Amino acid sequence: MYAQMVKSTGTLMSREDMSPQEAAFQDRVDAGDKIEPQDWMPEGYRKTLIRQIGQHAHSEIVGQLPEGNWITRAPTLERKQILIAKVQDEAGHGLYLYCAAETLGVSRDELTEDLLAGRMKYSSIFNYPTLTWADIGAVGWLVDGAAIMNQVPLQRTSYGPYARAMVRICKEESFHQRQGYSIMMKMVNGTPEQREMAQDALNRFWYPSLMMFGPSDKDSVHSAQSMAWKIKMNSNDELRQKFVDQTVPQAEYLGLTVPDPELRWNEEKGGYDFSEPDWDEFYQVLRGNGPCNAERIGARQKAWDDGAWVREGLMAHAEKHARRVAAE
Ligand code: 3HC
Repeated sequence: MYAQMVKSTGTLMSREDMSPQEAAFQDRVDAGDKIEPQDWMPEGYRKTLIRQIGQHAHSEIVGQLPEGNWITRAPTLERKQILIAKVQDEAGHGLYLYCAAETLGVSRDELTEDLLAGRMKYSSIFNYPTLTWADIGAVGWLVDGAAIMNQVPLQRTSYGPYARAMVRICKEESFHQRQGYSIMMKMVNGTPEQREMAQDALNRFWYPSLMMFGPSDKDSVHSAQSMAWKIKMNSNDELRQKFVDQTVPQAEYLGLTVPDPELRWNEEKGGYDFSEPDWDEFYQVLRGNGPCNAERIGARQKAWDDGAWVREGLMAHAEKHARRVAAE
């Protein structure tokens, strides 16, 4: 499909410049073949996958924090059980994704060290606080809704282990989105104060959810490269538009107002016109200056430090076992 191929970040290479091995690889991608860990792949392809899958895995793990915060305060036993199940699912997603990244020759420990040292990112959305119970509804509805919009196409991504991990993740994200919407339904049909909490949660989570899809296409550094390699199947703006088109009628059904005075149905394009998020705020959050960045990284650092004795114990056991096997 793509006549061009990217050699390394930001540089597109024309077919004439490709080595026979690179051209054969691009042909496989264009034909829709799945690339498997034992297959030859360009170094840029491997690095891009490690960056994206690693960032995705970190997002799943950090994403447990804003919701875990509400487990002890969920309003009913049933809601508490559902929330615990959802948070556990996110831990599982992180694990599948770390495993997928490991097939590319990087360990989970290395990825965690890169995160803690600020060399890797996690999704901007998890740097916003969950202040009320309605925020848990908004996170499920909007954040998991945006995640599904981004991740359903990734089931067809060119790298086999990533595509297969996404199949199960998407099934579970669907349940997450529904549980969020169900909380919102309950809130909007409750007291006037509860309805107000639901509107306030939508007001605070709308633009951060739009930011989840990444910068606008003109500012996206990796999209051209990643789409040529079918690591990404759609551009950031395409998915953001689809998300808005899907979510606005859901907000209307709830009787809530999307906090965007420019929001209008555009008959000609068959989608909504809407205001872009504040990209300065987005880049501030990426630089570590969001409301909860320090708290989130602090929690990950603490978990890493608290788990040191387990890692050391496992290493000591593995070394002892290896020595015993060698002696025998
Ligand atoms: N948060 C943090 N960083 C972001 C970002 C966001 N929302 N959007 C973009 N960025 C970063 C990119 O990582 C890149 O920085 P880098 O070069 O240091 O890695 C830079 O901004 C430029 O953006 P690009 O558009 O060039 O980056 P990508 O091509 O990688 O596109 C993406 C960004 C759309 C997020 C893409 O990486 C992607 O589709 N990733 C897979 C899905 C994913 O990671 N989802 C996390 C969402 S949360 C989640 O899944 C948990 C669930 O339980 C809700």
